[in-house]
Amino acid sequence: MLVRALYVSRAVGPQTGTVTAQILAAAQAHNAEHGVSGVLCQGQGLYLQVLEGERAAVNQLYAQILLDRRHRDVQMLSFEEISERRYASWSMAHVHLPDDDAMVRMQHPEFDPYSATGAFVLKLVDELLAGGHRIDKPA
Ligand SMILES: Cc1cc2nc3c(=O)[nH]c(=O)nc-3n(C[C@H](O)[C@H](O)[C@H](O)COP(=O)(O)O)c2cc1C
Repeated sequence: MLVRALYVSRAVGPQTGTVTAQILAAAQAHNAEHGVSGVLCQGQGLYLQVLEGERAAVNQLYAQILLDRRHRDVQMLSFEEISERRYASWSMAHVHLPDDDAMVRMQHPEFDPYSATGAFVLKLVDELLAGGHRIDKPA
């Protein structure tokens, strides 16, 4: 049974390239092995991550991610059964949340992921991917 989970969290400390590289390296190694795909968006001190895969694998990974001290205030925004993956081609795509994009300015109440609906945030992630904000494309 396939599921898709979406969560938001706040970075602890600055979101430097080194921290990102470490997270992505773990994601690329672990996720491919466990059949998990998804997208990690970062910027403005936030992480938004979509995890897709077998329910047990996604739950296990999420439990591990919850314990990670590089972020806090981890909140699940949506968890649903799916018939197919949306991000099958990436073990973990990486997207930057631009500071200068009015669409994603967190000052706008509509764009605060902690108060927006999961469906809304998922749509935002899709728009960021489609809009060329993808930073890299892991194999
Ligand atoms: C925002 C965020 C996203 C993460 N995403 C993943 C992920 O998709 N896959 C993964 O294996 N680890 C991810 N991690 C890292 C895990 O929390 C954990 O550190 C890692 O899986 C442990 O790997 P290790 O046993 O090789 O040290 C993420 C961490 C953070 C802070």
